[in-house]
Amino acid sequence: MRRMHVALAASVLTLAVPVGCRHLSTKGVPQNGAVRTQSNSFSDDIRANSSTALEEGQKIFRHDTFGDEYFWGDTLQLQRAIAGERHGGVGPGLTPRQALQLGLKVDVDHVPRIMGAAIRGGSASLDEVQTTLELLKADAVVGVKAFYDSGGLRPTRIGITCALCHSTVNDALTKGIGNRLDGWPNRDLDVGAIIALAPSVAPLEKALGLNADAIRKTLRSWGPGKYDAELIHDGKAFRPDGKSAATVLPAAFGLAGVNLHTYTGWGSITHWNAYVAVTQMHGRGRFFDPRLNDPAKFPVAQRTKMYDVRATPDQVTPKLAALHYYQMSMPAPTPPANSFDHAAADRGRSLFDGQAKCATCHVPPLFVEPGWPMHTAAEIGIDDFQAKRSPDERYRTTPLKGLFVRAKGGFYHDGRFATLDDVVNHYDEHFKLGLTASQKHDLVEYLKSL
Ligand code: HEC
Ligand code: HEC
Repeated sequence: MRRMHVALAASVLTLAVPVGCRHLSTKGVPQNGAVRTQSNSFSDDIRANSSTALEEGQKIFRHDTFGDEYFWGDTLQLQRAIAGERHGGVGPGLTPRQALQLGLKVDVDHVPRIMGAAIRGGSASLDEVQTTLELLKADAVVGVKAFYDSGGLRPTRIGITCALCHSTVNDALTKGIGNRLDGWPNRDLDVGAIIALAPSVAPLEKALGLNADAIRKTLRSWGPGKYDAELIHDGKAFRPDGKSAATVLPAAFGLAGVNLHTYTGWGSITHWNAYVAVTQMHGRGRFFDPRLNDPAKFPVAQRTKMYDVRATPDQVTPKLAALHYYQMSMPAPTPPANSFDHAAADRGRSLFDGQAKCATCHVPPLFVEPGWPMHTAAEIGIDDFQAKRSPDERYRTTPLKGLFVRAKGGFYHDGRFATLDDVVNHYDEHFKLGLTASQKHDLVEYLKSL
């Protein structure tokens, strides 16, 4: 009996020693447990994978077109409208000033040094199409990638990346030119007006069964900071009240921990990434979502077979993992300390968690319900037009962190509430909260602090 105890204790010891030692120093320690060594190096693999995925994902988010230049370049010929007649394209061309007015942003880290100095000193002409072409060549226009067959300034194709709609810049050099802010929605960007510049909108005419004028009218109805990510599946260009059916561009930051994405909760981040890359950006790859194979709800997708796309070679699927990882890594930005009243925000927090009942849906610190965060239109007191355009026919609780960077263009999926005061008034009425004016003020200050 006694002997056995000793033997047991000894074997526990021999098992334990290599593990402890390996943490201090792996050199000179006999690695007698093959399984254990592997499990430790797998931890290293996880770390290495994390930093590679982050780096790769950032590149994809910022610069990858997924092959969509065949659509924006070969088919719509956007590069010809940008270059203008004088540079072998059509029309007057696009000057940097016009590009900035359309909300396009310029990454200062890619602006050639001489040009940066000239812009700062006011001597660079922002009214020359040539400057736009130089910026494109330097890969400085956020979310727009030009392709060249040979030397020279004239691009032969143009493609778009995720950053076009989901990044902006901090205006470090001048308005519209600065350092990248990935994940911040570009609420200045007039996507519709940019697409409407294209010499040809033939694929949209064909898909939607509308003539070019009607397509351009729809595109121009969106306005800055908006895009309609369901139009080419359901063909619903306008709401019943005649207003545009587009939604505001959402934040792509602060989404880790959140289940279900888009205003109407289409699916996970990676579902939506494939959806956008293939069906919206027109990148080339695989996309499958049988819910779109519905002739009543998604007649266009059903006709164009967008529910099961198998373009080869697949330039989307191999990028989804790293892209997903990068998106999960983007934190929500912190509002400047002087941008809200701290004492009022503290009082507002108590209201948010208590009397105003906000936290029942916007559960801190995610500000969205853990689980299935979906609500009917009636629950939140609005119409169901946009909800009905999605598979679950509900609205997803919007995560609220970093609200301060998406005030422009308004709140809720279509920006219907111009200010946070309007949002709070809506809830006060809908839920009969009976908030006083000063309570509403405190609640708004709290929202500004998130
Ligand atoms: C042309 C503009 C545009 C481009 C390009 C674009 N998106 Fe979006 N994105 C939108 C809009 C608009 C929505 C909201 C759609 C909705 O709710 O119906 C959205 C929604 C999202 C969401 C959901 C956000 C949330 O609150 O859950 C994520 C994540 C996202 N996009 C990531 C991407 C990625 C990654 C790419 C590149 C593969 C991309 N987007 C390309 C316009 C764009
Ligand atoms: C029943 C669940 C629910 C409750 C309770 C609730 N919300 Fe919401 N909230 C939502 C949903 C769903 C949306 C998305 C609506 C849309 O986009 O159309 C939303 C959107 C918002 C937005 C807009 C975010 C953006 O970026 O557009 C704000 C701000 C907000 N809620 C604040 C509040 C406050 C403050 C309260 C308490 C007074 C509250 N919510 C109570 C579900 C809820």
